[in-house]
Amino acid sequence: MRVFIIKLNRAFENFELNNLSENRMDLVARCVSSAFFLDHDIRRDVKLLLCFDNNKVVEISGEIRQMRPDERSIAGFFKGLLQGKRYNGIRFYEASFNDIIKRYKVFYVLDRKGRDIKEIRIDKPVFIIGDDLGLPDIEGRKISLGPLSYMASHCIVILNNHLDGVIYESA
Ligand SMILES: C[S@@+](CC[C@H](N)C(=O)[O-])C[C@H]1O[C@@H](n2cnc3c(N)ncnc32)[C@H](O)[C@@H]1O
Repeated sequence: MRVFIIKLNRAFENFELNNLSENRMDLVARCVSSAFFLDHDIRRDVKLLLCFDNNKVVEISGEIRQMRPDERSIAGFFKGLLQGKRYNGIRFYEASFNDIIKRYKVFYVLDRKGRDIKEIRIDKPVFIIGDDLGLPDIEGRKISLGPLSYMASHCIVILNNHLDGVIYESA
């Protein structure tokens, strides 16, 4: 299992499907797409934890069904969660970001200035990634994907591709 934890600097609250960028639900939806979607398939060995600023967590696993990779389809599931609907492969609960990271003994904090990912052996693939507003200083193993600043969703694609090529112990 690979785990991606996204620390979001916004609350999970009502939003318009026609205006996804308003509360950066476009970013959230792209993270989901990047974490799970392959060409005509879904990655089943992924867990994505979206930690919103108002202590709401949306936890998604490869058990999701009937979701399409486009932002609007994915955002529709988030809208449904806010309306009380529940879905296979999606858990919605209250927890803080700190509660979530306490679950893992080992995790890697994605940081442009960290150690080059190509130079390290990933022990347990648990990654913490910031949104467009970045991450606070988090104690942990800081790893870099290179000198450029990538979008959170692109970091997930790069990490997935990196992990596809290496042997690692499941998180
Ligand atoms: C769009 S970036 C954040 C930009 C934000 N303005 C900042 O300066 O932190 C989103 C997140 O992706 C991760 N990230 C982006 N580029 C990276 C890189 N080259 N190496 C490692 N992590 C990166 C970091 O976790 C960052 O918080």
